[in-house]
Amino acid sequence: MIAIGSDHGGYELKEFLKTYLAGKGIEVLDVGCHSTESCDYPQYAAAVAEMIQEGKCEKGILCCGTGIGISIAANKHHGIRAALVSEPVSASLASEHNNANILCLGGRVTGNVLAAACVDAWLETKFAGGRHADRIAKMND
Ligand code: RB5
Repeated sequence: MIAIGSDHGGYELKEFLKTYLAGKGIEVLDVGCHSTESCDYPQYAAAVAEMIQEGKCEKGILCCGTGIGISIAANKHHGIRAALVSEPVSASLASEHNNANILCLGGRVTGNVLAAACVDAWLETKFAGGRHADRIAKMND
């Protein structure tokens, strides 16, 4: 199951990605927001981070206007490796090298089709482990 959340700036992209993932048979847990009314991204970053920390979801997706604020907020949470991406090569490497458990996207800067390609690349790529696992262990320390 994938947790998904956004602020108002990422709301429309979140809704698109929910439908996209459901179409692929992937279960999605939406933590909000639920409209384009102005709200604060740290709340939704925390909600998705919590789902992962509690083991309710393996991964998460977060969207805000640029993806910047919500990625900064997500990375404040223990055990979270949130990667802000805008193209599929980085999305794939976010899995392969960084074992990113949250993918962040900017609804005002990245189109729906490109965002979906990023999500696919991130989900389809496996973590390489090895030296990359050592580097992640150093961050956890
Ligand atoms: C909201 O206006 C906007 O600042 C937010 O969605 C995000 O882009 C922040 O990084």
